[in-house]
Amino acid sequence: MCGIVGYIGNKKAVPVLINGLLSLEYRGYDSAGVAVLNPNNSDYILKVVKDKGRVKILQDNSELETITGNVGIAHTRWATHGMPSKVNSHPHLDNSGKFAVVHNGIIENYVDLRKKLLDNGYTLYSDTDTEVIPNLIHMNYNGDILEAVSKTMKELKGSYAIEVISPLFADKIIVAKKDSPLVVGIGEDENFIASDIPAVLAHTNNFYFLDEQEIAVVEKNLVKFYDINLNEVTKDIKNIEWDAESSEKNGYEDYMLKEIYEQPQAIRETIGSRLSLDKKVSLGLENVDFKAFNKIYIVACGTAMHAGIASKYAFEKFCKIPTEVDMASEFRYRNPLIDEHTLCIFISQSGETADTIAALRLAKEAGSTTISIVNVIGSSITRLSDYTLYTHAGPEIAVASTKAYTCQVTLLNILVINIAESLGYESKELNSFKSSLLELPDKVKQTLETNKLVKDFADKVYTQKDLYFIGRGTDYAVSMEGSLKLKEISYIHSEAYAAGELKHGPIALIENGVTVIGIATNPITTEKTLSNLEESITRGASVLVVTNQNIKNDKIDYIINVPETDSILSPIISVIPLQLFAYYIAKNKNLDVDKPRNLAKSVTVE
Ligand code: AGP
Repeated sequence: MCGIVGYIGNKKAVPVLINGLLSLEYRGYDSAGVAVLNPNNSDYILKVVKDKGRVKILQDNSELETITGNVGIAHTRWATHGMPSKVNSHPHLDNSGKFAVVHNGIIENYVDLRKKLLDNGYTLYSDTDTEVIPNLIHMNYNGDILEAVSKTMKELKGSYAIEVISPLFADKIIVAKKDSPLVVGIGEDENFIASDIPAVLAHTNNFYFLDEQEIAVVEKNLVKFYDINLNEVTKDIKNIEWDAESSEKNGYEDYMLKEIYEQPQAIRETIGSRLSLDKKVSLGLENVDFKAFNKIYIVACGTAMHAGIASKYAFEKFCKIPTEVDMASEFRYRNPLIDEHTLCIFISQSGETADTIAALRLAKEAGSTTISIVNVIGSSITRLSDYTLYTHAGPEIAVASTKAYTCQVTLLNILVINIAESLGYESKELNSFKSSLLELPDKVKQTLETNKLVKDFADKVYTQKDLYFIGRGTDYAVSMEGSLKLKEISYIHSEAYAAGELKHGPIALIENGVTVIGIATNPITTEKTLSNLEESITRGASVLVVTNQNIKNDKIDYIINVPETDSILSPIISVIPLQLFAYYIAKNKNLDVDKPRNLAKSVTVE
């Protein structure tokens, strides 16, 4: 996830662009840059200033003072392909230096496109997927920029919101989008482009929204829209009345809610081109001899550890290797039985968690192979691990992790397929597992529609003191995450139990005024979990069930129906109502959901 801004009008472009980038920093902040068409005699030249680091570093760059042009594009980056560095920052130029491009999204077929460009004599200077775009535009340009952009779009697979400027058409910014956000803000004798409304809300409340695979030609007094085949499209302007605070969060009340709603896209980007039905998964682990392992350890903390617990079932089922999940803080002090025959997988959103780093060092000393699942590119864990696989969740700002979790479980399951295929365990079941994974972004989107019912239940039970989550198998795994989410942002005491364990002690706690949430998504265990819920109802508990089974039971207060999927993948879906539940409870209690007390986003101490 990155942020892009564009300006065309009569003002100096740089200050407008920098202010826009500052309000988009929540989308990414590892490098930033601008490209402006600067007057040069009777012509224009492209001036590009960019660097690693936050927008503030760019803002303080004295080179910007020499730029007076009125047409420009800008970018704040959240690295996905290529480390944060000056050369990898945007804008990127083509080899002729005539086309400058900024891009938000991921070009999934960039390896093939890089090869095509290299075969055609182009040089690529960065490690990014983006650099192919200006060069493809150059390659496809025969004097008509719209045709060049349309042809280029047809070659790109993945997601993109792009802006293109060039001295060859100095009165225009060309923009295009697919699966990444882009809006055009309308002013008087000036127009604006941005990833999100907040970036330009100081200048206008009137916006056009681009649809998928559309192109816009933005001039200072005119905006025209085209589909990918260059048929003109008409659009209505929408008036947006947001206050400053809500605009920063793109209209959401809190980052946490925004991040919950970003999950379909984050999962889609994490799957990217890694998974398809017609070829084997390839995660760049060709040098790993998976036959050498007799045990897998998954090690992490908090939510990241819960992602590991939710995925353990898949490792054992499809890879047939015994898999243990451990808290990093325990693993590091208990002399775990690990050696060169152990595969150790570490999971971390931040890549900076002190306990996880220490556990990783221990595993390396013991000679184990280490693979890490990390969200923040270039973070400490990625530098220490033998192999790193990135979730593409984008920056997660709320302390309570939501989209990182669903992306971690998604990527762990893709890793499962990679290992199973390397071990020769292809099967019909594995193929249908792949299809189920590919359906997840749409199903998660559908699941977000449970929000009203979840809020309704939260409104009823938010004053309660104790709350329990129960489930079996992967439903138990997701119960742990639901319980942690509730604890950390609502400060309500909560526990997760394997449903069958309830009668071995915890049921003594169930009485009037207690709430029990059951997760029942596995057809084999649903009846059993329902019986355990009945036992709670009998003792006075209010009950909510999250299920994809056809449950008819009048005694249950709320039934949240979620889409069906392979039960191994169900945590990615069933966690959504639990995240929303924790969120609405905390809102009812007027708590700061983004910054809960006593917690930090990245725990860099033991
Ligand atoms: C999640 O909501 C928590 N804030 C916390 O448990 C977190 O998952 C844990 O500290 C691990 O962080 P990491 O993923 O950055 O390593």
